[in-house]
Amino acid sequence: MAGNGTLPGSPYSGMVYAWGQLIDHDLDKTNNDGANHIDITVPDDDQTFGPGSTITLTRAVVDPKTGTQINAVTGWLDASMAYGSDAGTAASLRDANGRMKVSAGDNLPTADGAFVAGDTRASENPDLTALQTLVVREHNRCADQLRSAHPEWSSDKVCGTARSIVTGEIQNITYSGFLPLLLGSKAPGDYHGFDKSVDPRITEEFAGSAFRFGHTIVSGEIAYFDGTGGESGNQSLADAFFRAACDVRSQRRRSRPAAAPDGRHLAKVRRAPCGPAAQLLVRPAGRPGPRGRQHPA
Ligand code: HEM
Repeated sequence: MAGNGTLPGSPYSGMVYAWGQLIDHDLDKTNNDGANHIDITVPDDDQTFGPGSTITLTRAVVDPKTGTQINAVTGWLDASMAYGSDAGTAASLRDANGRMKVSAGDNLPTADGAFVAGDTRASENPDLTALQTLVVREHNRCADQLRSAHPEWSSDKVCGTARSIVTGEIQNITYSGFLPLLLGSKAPGDYHGFDKSVDPRITEEFAGSAFRFGHTIVSGEIAYFDGTGGESGNQSLADAFFRAACDVRSQRRRSRPAAAPDGRHLAKVRRAPCGPAAQLLVRPAGRPGPRGRQHPA
């Protein structure tokens, strides 16, 4: 995934949005309670949805004691989108040699025709699935090297060490590449060690609103490349939602350049004949959305 920077206002490739979504799925996931509706009423003049349409949405699962949203994944940048946020999931994704399980073609493992990863959103779009796959392949590359350098190591040690390396790589890309691109001089500076006075939990403001800025920079098209680097086709992102598992090819993918953040969503994505997941993405990002408004305090 590498764009050529031709979109006005955006010198960055589609990797910026894809990486943002990948690390978001590492950091937070708010489950819906499925009961208390805060459906979105679509304005009658909307070009995509018909008059009188609604997009179904229910409130986030909250802690009854505090009323605050519960994060369903680990809030650390710890590669939980690849390894899982609980021990059972982590165990189900690795094999007895400390490698991560894969399916044919060195792809993510599958269950019931869908890719399986540490996070349930891994197949949401092909760019995201490609990065999820890259993380698993990198784990296995590290695990193979560790195994041959230290044949006496247990598989747990191989697996744990490979995971530490991969997690460090993800943190490095995020803090050395992604955040400086995004925040410029406001990016976090050098790391000076663990500070236990900082509350590391994900805030509702971050998950419910701030980091959703990424919805405004999504690329509307995915280009396909063959083994020689030649472009072999295009697919609208709207047609690709949750289709990654049935669409694995030898072709390589890359996104068009990231859109400039402008508080709006891409028209091409808005036209998607899609399910609730993508419909929620298309809500104008410049205004506080139902999720952001759910906790007025
Ligand atoms: C094709 C790309 C994407 C799609 C289809 C998509 C779709 C969605 C959907 C359906 C939700 C749940 C909405 C809700 O229940 O309130 C969501 C949540 C979210 N998205 Fe995206 N998203 C995409 C890309 C991104 C990117 C690029 C970022 C950040 C750089 C991002 C950040 C977030 C965050 C922070 C949440 C809240 C997660 C939580 O804690 O539950 N998304 N997205």
